[in-house]
Amino acid sequence: MASFLLSSLFLLLAAPLAISTNSEGEALHALRTRLSDPRGVLQSWDPTLVNPCTWFHVTCDNHNHVIRLDLGNSNISGPLGPELSQLKHLQYLELYKNNFEGTIPEELGDLKNLVSIDLYDNNLHGSIPKSFGKLKTLRFMRLNNNKLTGSIPKELAKLSNLKVFDVSNNDLCGTIPVDGPFPTFSFQSFENNSRLNGPELQGLVAYDFGC
Ligand SMILES: *[C@@H]1O[C@H](CO)[C@@H](O)[C@H](O)[C@H]1NC(C)=O
Ligand SMILES: *[C@@H]1O[C@H](CO)[C@@H](O)[C@H](O)[C@H]1NC(C)=O
Repeated sequence: MASFLLSSLFLLLAAPLAISTNSEGEALHALRTRLSDPRGVLQSWDPTLVNPCTWFHVTCDNHNHVIRLDLGNSNISGPLGPELSQLKHLQYLELYKNNFEGTIPEELGDLKNLVSIDLYDNNLHGSIPKSFGKLKTLRFMRLNNNKLTGSIPKELAKLSNLKVFDVSNNDLCGTIPVDGPFPTFSFQSFENNSRLNGPELQGLVAYDFGC
């Protein structure tokens, strides 16, 4: 009886701990359940392991926190989801050249440590989240070759570390922001958005086509 009580107590204490250490694995597993993966690149994603650090295409730091997700060029299709925002330590989100569809989750703006977000060459639609203005450490944002609509959020002008920005080949509209890092980007970053305008595309006069 005493040992039963003791082990029940242990389970009670250990259960929340186990959940919190593997919340990143659970977030990735939740993403996986929605995806179609004809090449089996996510086969090693075993949710019963104590953390996702041994899964292929996932990289952790010394504290077993996920810092990279490398799924570029993997022929994956399906929607992204808000769970990705639970990868609080993520620095590199590399999902380019797949068939990810649906919208870009607003919650990705909570990834405070993100250095690079590469979603280019997918089937994403909807708008660029305003919440991306919170990604203060971001250096690379490539969203080109999707079906994104709406305007470039003026909040992105706050991203003072942004070195590479590409939204070419979408269906964006409105005016390109003129402040923050935007004057350093060339017209190629904005090409092939027929309703987008701004100094990079049209000399110094910005025409607002509206959205
Ligand atoms: C990608 O997946 C589709 C099915 O979704 C399949 O028809 C195609 O052959 C795959 N391509 C590669 C390069 O694996
Ligand atoms: C824009 O579209 C043209 C014609 O389809 C293409 O040749 C060009 O490479 C595209 N620009 C970019 C930056 O992808």
